[in-house]
Amino acid sequence: MKRKENVITIAGAGSARVPALLGNLIEYKERFPLKKIIMFDIDNERMGQMEAYDRLVLKTYYPEVEVIFTTDPDVAYKDIDFVFCQMRVGKGEMRSFDEKIPLKYGLVGQETCGPGGFAYGMRSLQGMKEMVEKVRSYSKDTWILNYTNPAAIVALGLDRMFPEDKRILNLCDQPYSLLKSYAKILEVPQETLIPKYFGLNHFGWFTGLKGTDGKDYFDKLRFYLRDHDFKPFNAEQRDKSWLDTYVRVNKYMNYFDEYIPTTYLQYYMFPTEIVQESDPKFTRADEAKVGREKEVFETCKLAENKKDMSGIKMLTNSVFGKLMVEVAESIAYDLNNSFVVMVKNNGIIPNFPQDAIIEVDGTIGKDGARGNYFGEISTFYKGLMENQYAYELLTVEAFMEKNYTKALQALTLNRTVIEPNKAKLVLDDLMEKNREYWHLD
Ligand code: G6P
Ligand code: MN
Repeated sequence: MKRKENVITIAGAGSARVPALLGNLIEYKERFPLKKIIMFDIDNERMGQMEAYDRLVLKTYYPEVEVIFTTDPDVAYKDIDFVFCQMRVGKGEMRSFDEKIPLKYGLVGQETCGPGGFAYGMRSLQGMKEMVEKVRSYSKDTWILNYTNPAAIVALGLDRMFPEDKRILNLCDQPYSLLKSYAKILEVPQETLIPKYFGLNHFGWFTGLKGTDGKDYFDKLRFYLRDHDFKPFNAEQRDKSWLDTYVRVNKYMNYFDEYIPTTYLQYYMFPTEIVQESDPKFTRADEAKVGREKEVFETCKLAENKKDMSGIKMLTNSVFGKLMVEVAESIAYDLNNSFVVMVKNNGIIPNFPQDAIIEVDGTIGKDGARGNYFGEISTFYKGLMENQYAYELLTVEAFMEKNYTKALQALTLNRTVIEPNKAKLVLDDLMEKNREYWHLD
């Protein structure tokens, strides 16, 4: 039987990740068929740079789908089944400040971790709050699939601001991306690997890896990573900064080889080394701009005034796009497929705050994400996570109450900062640069 068709809105259609997401939607059209795609962004110019390509690729490979481009939220959020959301409030320009301002004070400059993640979190919370309110003014049934970062803070904030809302699902593709590399290393298909995982988003560990063939692959992988450089098999993560990031998984495992950390743990474990290696004039924001973004915009430019795709390659196969589409598919047809998910703890880790949003292996179906029971965690991990969770919670409370002191406490707790004098300097500087977006009293 043919599957029921869906109407989706891509919120943040000016993102350079969107053309590849369309490629994934085309590839999955049997599994997740669409009736209509609404492309929405408040920045018409940016979305417009890709519009000719987006229209051409859909006309060529998905002629049956209706396509709308709009800057009007009322058009975007009415009568739709899913919002695929990856907004970036403040765009690449603010990402660049998030990464560069902390470096002035000798602190890690990263878009989702440390002070940069804090500033971005404050911007995203405001944008996401407005988006959820708008979507819900039309329907309580629309699924909001959120990829907006920093997902840990956005997920916690949305849970606190919309506690009754059961149709917001926050996503991160990094566990999925790492599994892709593990599969290559182990020479098995990725779909056959079943992970065991726990933590907070961008702050977690793989603790097991079984195959659908019944084999346990975890020790093989652990020993491999102790003895070989970890190289990304996700083609999107091969820029220099990503290569350095993967190798620091090896470095961490020289000290603690029981579990395999997510790549983002490096910022909390090796902040001094990372700051020393950072170039305050050229951060990841710049690298992504001259790399991925440039390539996408150039490809899209080729499509202007063209009638067919000859000579233009279809952008596709992004890990992010695949994850988004597979998650939507799993919800729409109640498949209960396995994913690493963000959910409220509620007993999954009995010795951790019950209302925290944790990241664990689980399943996704018509009622959203469900985490598998994990069990108690030991003192080292519990200590690290409690500290990080306190930082996240104070960040969300600082946003909701416009509370400067809580923001200062949040940053002081963050393992990348520690000293309140540095926390204050970086907070004041970030607040000044974010004047248009947020302010604390
Ligand atoms: C991973 C993370 C995302 C993050 C992305 C950044 O996929 O899970 O949360 O947005 O990396 O990638 P970029 O290439 O923009 O630095
Ligand atoms: Mn992520």
